[in-house]
Amino acid sequence: MAEDLQIIGGPKESMYENLVPQIQALVAGEDDLIANLANISAALKEQFGWLWVGFYLVKGDELVLGPFQGPVACTRIKKGRGVCGSAWAQNKTLIVPDVEAFPGHIACSSLSRSEIVLPLYDSNKQIIGVLDIDSEYLNTFDEVDQKYLEEILEIIAK
Ligand code: SME
Repeated sequence: MAEDLQIIGGPKESMYENLVPQIQALVAGEDDLIANLANISAALKEQFGWLWVGFYLVKGDELVLGPFQGPVACTRIKKGRGVCGSAWAQNKTLIVPDVEAFPGHIACSSLSRSEIVLPLYDSNKQIIGVLDIDSEYLNTFDEVDQKYLEEILEIIAK
């Protein structure tokens, strides 16, 4: 397997269409969760250049920082706290166009302006963590990101 990612420009739909099969190939044949989450973080960061891309993993009653790309981040988040803890508690994807308008947002980086957080499931449909992506711009994420990112996370759930 070639480890070089092919990065393209253009509309984000095209970027995702180009990236998803490459991520499939990257994780195919590797069953180590951390290794795969690390490569998915790197691939998303490399293609889209967002401020922060990474995973928090469920450990007891907290989310604990997992593989990520970007500035250093808070290590533990309680269930129901911030966007990540809320996505976990509500078991659903949260798109936040303006973090300052989200009550209880945890500002790991003062540069973060908008974000998307998606649940990560295992093969039994149990939530095992979240994918958190932060942008330094307002209104970065929409249903297009949600659709493709959920598709990417399904690769892990299988
Ligand atoms: N923004 C998150 C905290 C994690 S950092 O941004 C990496 C939140 O409010 O859940």
